[in-house]
Amino acid sequence: MNLPTELKQALNAQIGMEFQASYSYLSMAAYFEANSWDGFASWMSMQSDEEREHAMKFYTYLLDRGADIELPALEAPVHQFSSPLAVFESSLEQEKKVTAAINNLYKIAHDSADYATVSFLKWFVDEQVEEEKNVSDMIEKIKRAGENPDALMMLDTLAGNRGPEEE
Ligand SMILES: [Fe+2]
Ligand SMILES: [Fe+2]
Repeated sequence: MNLPTELKQALNAQIGMEFQASYSYLSMAAYFEANSWDGFASWMSMQSDEEREHAMKFYTYLLDRGADIELPALEAPVHQFSSPLAVFESSLEQEKKVTAAINNLYKIAHDSADYATVSFLKWFVDEQVEEEKNVSDMIEKIKRAGENPDALMMLDTLAGNRGPEEE
């Protein structure tokens, strides 16, 4: 079964959204790197790699379904932040937008009775729960650390210990 046009376009747009997320996380990694937050930098860099993997899952899926790849344009990500907390808050905003986009994709796939795509998207639905949870947890911890530099340093170390995500 060929992919319905609307679904094909939305899946192509999602490749762009995942690359955009990867690009934003790289910009966040650079901010942390420049400000000597090595652990947060490594977290963001790992996150950037993961988003690229997400983009490639959509890319491969479209090719597997015999659909054309039309990569959309990317925007320059924000590169100046006021604090580590502001970076993670911006990351959570981004993840919420991605979650909404994935849910919308799921709806289109479901409404067009394209159950292969519904099945493919399930992994992303679950993944977004994880993504939002990880970032929200970090925001809570940073807020708790407040202005205490020792506590923030400890969180930086903790963030640097985060291993690659399991699938
Ligand atoms: Fe993603
Ligand atoms: Fe993500």
